[in-house]
Amino acid sequence: MTQPTGLSAPEVLTEARRRRTFAVISHPDAGKSTLTEALLLHARAITTAGATHGKAGRRGTVSDWMAMEQARGISVTSAAIQFEYRDAVINLVDTPGHADFSEDTFRVLSAVDAAVMLVDASKGLEVQTMKLFEVCRQRNLPVITVINKWDRPGAEALDLMDEIRRRTGLIPTPLTWPVGIAGDFRGVIDRSSHEFVRFTRTAGGAKAAAPERVSAAVAAADEGDAWLTATEESELLAEENQDHDEARFLANETTPVLFAAAVLGFGVQHILDTLVDFAPAAEAREDASGSHRPVGSAFSGFVFKVQSGMNASHRDHVAFVRVCSGQFRRGMIVTHAASGRPFATKYAQHLFGREREVADEAWPGDIVGLVNASALRVGDSIFEGDPVEYPPLPMFAPEHFRVVRSADTSKHKQFRRGIDQLDHEGVIQVMRSELRGDQAPVLGAVGPMQFEVVEERMTHDFGAAIRSEALPYQIARRTDRESAEILGHDRQVEVLMRSDGTLLALFSTVWRLRNTVRDHPELLLEDLATGS
Ligand code: G4P
Repeated sequence: MTQPTGLSAPEVLTEARRRRTFAVISHPDAGKSTLTEALLLHARAITTAGATHGKAGRRGTVSDWMAMEQARGISVTSAAIQFEYRDAVINLVDTPGHADFSEDTFRVLSAVDAAVMLVDASKGLEVQTMKLFEVCRQRNLPVITVINKWDRPGAEALDLMDEIRRRTGLIPTPLTWPVGIAGDFRGVIDRSSHEFVRFTRTAGGAKAAAPERVSAAVAAADEGDAWLTATEESELLAEENQDHDEARFLANETTPVLFAAAVLGFGVQHILDTLVDFAPAAEAREDASGSHRPVGSAFSGFVFKVQSGMNASHRDHVAFVRVCSGQFRRGMIVTHAASGRPFATKYAQHLFGREREVADEAWPGDIVGLVNASALRVGDSIFEGDPVEYPPLPMFAPEHFRVVRSADTSKHKQFRRGIDQLDHEGVIQVMRSELRGDQAPVLGAVGPMQFEVVEERMTHDFGAAIRSEALPYQIARRTDRESAEILGHDRQVEVLMRSDGTLLALFSTVWRLRNTVRDHPELLLEDLATGS
């Protein structure tokens, strides 16, 4: 049954309202994998949390799957996990933790409606957290802050609040407040009910024990001065207008804060409740022309990630689509906006870490994996009914460059196919020039670890091992044909064409770039990040 475009189907609206689609942003080691498991455990999606002891030998958590990820203990790929909690459907989209994959993370954050900023209590806001926070700010994503590892000695809660306010510009509005000093943690005050949530250690957090709640009177008797201090601090926060306010949160003025010990399961249920109660549901999304396609209109979505080789037994190619409007039904024929061609969605899946299940239907906010969707590229829109195109996903300015060749010249076909595929997936940016020839493309990366992924994938997925050589450039500027002609005479600058048709001028140092600008002020040398 096809929904008439533009009309709000009640079922679509009901389902969209139930959706909470979010990502966790954090610095590596803050406890993202631990929290992911704890959330699933509490939502009863899995029965036992994998022990996260020691990076090297630990059992992979449900959200990472590549061998390389496990070896390094970092998350390279993105997985989407869906689970139900209360009457909501929660989509947790995993973000790569390492800074080298920030382009990938940016794309993931374009597919979610809120972010959980996970902070290690003893470290505060670390570099990668701040970088990711900046992306959330650019995207106007509401941010919920979780202070993790509160079971261990860390910073003072009030100092952490100051740091959040100073560095993010958001006013922290704690939903819970710790009782007891760092290292002697007794529990938290639930600031909305004024109850005491007692901190009890469960064995490795492996059981989803219900938190023990007692009244303020009981807490005062049991905890004495620790309770008194905490209530005074909490009242101080209220006087300073640091209570949760939904409108201010959604307007990106405030961030609700929760204190947790993910590894012990403490505070996890409250995180889920906060997502359900306060995080925004899937709403109408702005398209490339600036208008909003209502969630109740016919199906539409966009690809925010493309990935191959997720299943070692069949070398498949999955396009992850964020559903923006309407009902997705497996087998439906949609239109691929970029080519205008019909696209059959016969093989659609929900992805649950390594596990997959067939997706028969999906609703706004959901993520579906379209298998063998090799026509789809990152950023592409698909739709049913009235055409729609969502804004293109931004490409970062590459800062590392390597020229690559096939290690075995007889494999140039596999080489070409592999490079094109990795380009489609957004793993790396691919640039070419007549001078260098087709067999020696230049790869551009935001972080050098992307090159390791390329090497690994080229060898194992495409059977075309590569040789590569670093190029001495650090800066890329967008240029045009006229400027490229002039730059072509400068031996210090190289101009290449990226596969999306953008001409990039590469410079070895800021100093070289400045000299060129000084000598040729007429040239177009645009900053890729700011467009100036
Ligand atoms: P990540 O995905 O953000 O990189 O972090 P991950 O979950 O792997 O957690 C990093 C380390 O922090 C893990 O220890 C994990 O057990 C620990 N951790 C996570 N949450 C908490 C918490 O609430 N309290 C405490 N005390 N620790 C937490 P690890 O890598 O296994 O090292 P180790 O703890 O065995 O030394």
